[in-house]
Amino acid sequence: MSTTPFIPKQAQEALAVGPAAIWKELYGDLMDELARNLLSLAPPITAISKIHDNGCGNALAELQKAVVADSWPVTTEVVDSNKLTFPDGSFDLSITNMVFAAFKNGTEDVQAAKEIKRTLKPGGPANANAFDHNPRNTIIRDAHHATRGKDAASLPAMYFAYYESSYFRKALGDAEWDSVRYVNSGVWVEIKDLQRFANIAWAVTGQPSTGWTEEDEKNWDNATSTIIPGLQEGRGNGFIEKDGTHHVRSIVTTALLQK
Ligand SMILES: C[S@@+](CC[C@H](N)C(=O)[O-])C[C@H]1O[C@@H](n2cnc3c(N)ncnc32)[C@H](O)[C@@H]1O
Repeated sequence: MSTTPFIPKQAQEALAVGPAAIWKELYGDLMDELARNLLSLAPPITAISKIHDNGCGNALAELQKAVVADSWPVTTEVVDSNKLTFPDGSFDLSITNMVFAAFKNGTEDVQAAKEIKRTLKPGGPANANAFDHNPRNTIIRDAHHATRGKDAASLPAMYFAYYESSYFRKALGDAEWDSVRYVNSGVWVEIKDLQRFANIAWAVTGQPSTGWTEEDEKNWDNATSTIIPGLQEGRGNGFIEKDGTHHVRSIVTTALLQK
């Protein structure tokens, strides 16, 4: 007999707009800003550059529609970044935007870094990045441990908050790139309504690996009340309040690699 999983009423209210709208509302332009930042650090692309967009996203079917509609010279394929199916030396440039945190630290991240190197042409450049500091995620991780205990299992939807930029640097070192240079950049994204952000962020990413409980419904305000002050802690250089809206800064580490 199957039972319907429990969902706190506050989560149901927060998520009522539906999955596509909620992701857009939660992350705003963050992923686009990060991609722009990564590309701004990449070498110039020519008309004949063969580029690998490694771990390019979940919506490949949507991308494929745009490829056909706009006649882009792009091929889409589901490929594991740890076992790229491309021959050695296939690409002029490889970009890996916000994917390393999805890999197991110390094994998959090293293997993925080796695969990027293997599939690049000799001397070819690659850019990859990972968060150095992302308050939007760390406050959710901290709210989780503050309300459920420091030993509570990691939040599955918050895997980004557990991957450190030191793991990223170590993985690239272990993959023995010939040349690596790191650039840290601040990426600012608007949050219009802090209270709404606290509710949707907790509703989308605060769910424990074992599922929501009635305790979570009772503790909802306790958990979400730490999120706004957590963001405001960065006031001055990581949090700006202006004209009734807010901007929060994440710091991203980009590795400029060369084979
Ligand atoms: C935060 S998203 C970034 C997506 C995209 N790079 C962008 O800039 O919007 C992380 C992506 O990594 C992909 N990913 C996770 N593990 C992967 C793996 N082993 N191989 C390939 N892609 C993977 C996920 O499917 C997801 O689309």
